[in-house]
Amino acid sequence: MTKKLTITTIKKLKNERNITMITAYDALFAKLFENTADIILVGDSLNMSFGGKSDTLSITLEQMIYHTQAVSQGARDTFIICDMPFGSYITKERALDSALKVFQETSADAIKIEGGADKAEIVQYLVDNGIAVCGHIGLLPQSVRAEGGYKVKGKDEESSASLIEDALAIEKAGAFCIVVEGVKAPVATQIAQSVSVPVVGIGAGNGVDGQVLVFSDMLGFFEDFTPKFVKKYLDGAALVRNAVRNYKKEVESGEFPDEIHTY
Ligand code: KIV
Repeated sequence: MTKKLTITTIKKLKNERNITMITAYDALFAKLFENTADIILVGDSLNMSFGGKSDTLSITLEQMIYHTQAVSQGARDTFIICDMPFGSYITKERALDSALKVFQETSADAIKIEGGADKAEIVQYLVDNGIAVCGHIGLLPQSVRAEGGYKVKGKDEESSASLIEDALAIEKAGAFCIVVEGVKAPVATQIAQSVSVPVVGIGAGNGVDGQVLVFSDMLGFFEDFTPKFVKKYLDGAALVRNAVRNYKKEVESGEFPDEIHTY
């Protein structure tokens, strides 16, 4: 069994080895990731892959809490981050109320909020009140409707400079780790080199301090679309379909249940 990480040991990893983060939404998968993943993120992406919605915006704090409780049951020895849903941190007071609810009702070790310099005051307020915060900059899925789509960031000098400012502001506010999503690789590398906390990338190249992937993407269960940055380590959908087809065939033929599966 590997030792559960803390914000102190996560920060130290920056100069030691890459961090492996993966999402999970339930106890079943969380248990499979325990002892392998360094960090499990209960991402609001569950609204899409688990809930079938077209974006992350409609998930509620109560739903995030339910899934974080389930993940905590499955992976008691893994550092768990709960994603704060859209609208739950629009003011620092609202953010603290939401984060306190998460901390009181789940075993989450930290929360994650989307936003850069504009959210630094909120991050600072949460950290000052005992909440460990992971930042999230670059492509922000919760801004998809405001921005009219998912847009890769860091394509010009102005956008790159503002991403570095975002990272520095979030670090200064006390975030222990920063997720950088959908950013041109050289800019993400520059971000990682500019801050002393670990930068975990998704669609941000390999010059950062770790990677995060949505489990249903990398295990091939989510088929609606596959972003360029997703590597499929398993064809989960094909395996499941094949297994269920075999089950149906055996039920119809009467082959299942056989003697060893009968009392
Ligand atoms: O919700 C999520 O799964 C995330 C990752 C994409 C970083 O925020």
